[in-house]
Amino acid sequence: MQGNVLRIFPTPHQEVPLKGLYLGEDIPSENEKLGRPFVYANFITSLDGRIAVPNPKAGRLTVPEQIANDRDWRLFQELAAQADILITSGRYLRNYIEGTSQEILQAFDDPNYADLLDWRKEHGMAALPDLAVISGSLDFPAPDPKLWGDRSIIIFTSSRANSDRIRMVENEIGEVFIAGEESVRGNLMIEGLAQKGYRSIYNTTGPKVLHFLLADGIVDRLYLTFAHRVLGGDPYLSIVDGPLLEMPVDFRLRSAYLDSHSFDGAGQLITSYERLRK
Ligand SMILES: NC(=O)c1ccc[n+]([C@@H]2O[C@H](COP(=O)([O-])OP(=O)(O)OC[C@H]3O[C@@H](n4cnc5c(N)ncnc54)[C@H](OP(=O)(O)O)[C@@H]3O)[C@@H](O)[C@H]2O)c1
Repeated sequence: MQGNVLRIFPTPHQEVPLKGLYLGEDIPSENEKLGRPFVYANFITSLDGRIAVPNPKAGRLTVPEQIANDRDWRLFQELAAQADILITSGRYLRNYIEGTSQEILQAFDDPNYADLLDWRKEHGMAALPDLAVISGSLDFPAPDPKLWGDRSIIIFTSSRANSDRIRMVENEIGEVFIAGEESVRGNLMIEGLAQKGYRSIYNTTGPKVLHFLLADGIVDRLYLTFAHRVLGGDPYLSIVDGPLLEMPVDFRLRSAYLDSHSFDGAGQLITSYERLRK
């Protein structure tokens, strides 16, 4: 990955390589400081705050092709490589089973990320992270039994879930964990994951899940890449989708890097934020 990024914060300003930028954070060690799992999330957004737009080829909303880029994807992969378990959505699992969504951690599928397998090995982690899937509908096609290899898949749903579907999912996909009455609650889900021994939990889902994780005070760190492009488009999807939060959730800037090697020099701002605990 050619071309450095410029550290803007914290000072002193300094050119640093993009490759390894987030791998150097040693996220798994954060859990030792907290004495509970460390939860982090990542988004790439346009300057006008869009994280997904209608994609006519896919027939659904996807990450805008206009802002998705290899440099940000490298950082996403470095974050995924540091997770014991990835939080994902029912929507993703359906697409994955149907073959229209790719593996989240690309370490086996793309030689550019093969180094991440070594990193996981050196840190005593399984080759691929487990998956925590959030779903109300439990509406999944039957998967190929070999699809997950030896990874664990845990499906988090609510008491409203259909009991036949729960049985089907338990037979064909993985353990079903009830984490809420009406819908999945972030605190119950993370307690469940903590009891199972997970330490670093990476949320890769979209704005509905981020909303309830924030509402329950779960997210410790947000990684946001701001692509310096304005997109427009309907519907408007930002990093959070849901009712006004009872309490705003405050985040303090912990790092900011300017990457001027993307979008014909327009560049992107690579930031991370730490939640302020009140
Ligand atoms: N730009 C970025 O960085 C970025 C990052 C992530 C996602 N995205 C995009 O954002 C869009 C939405 O992503 P997404 O579908 O993964 O995320 P989402 O909108 O947060 O989650 C939606 C899915 O999660 C389940 N769900 C959400 N909240 C739930 C609750 N409280 N209880 C039970 N189930 C719940 C539902 O599954 P069931 O339908 O199975 O009930 C639903 O289909 C996609 O286009 C994606 O590509 C962009």
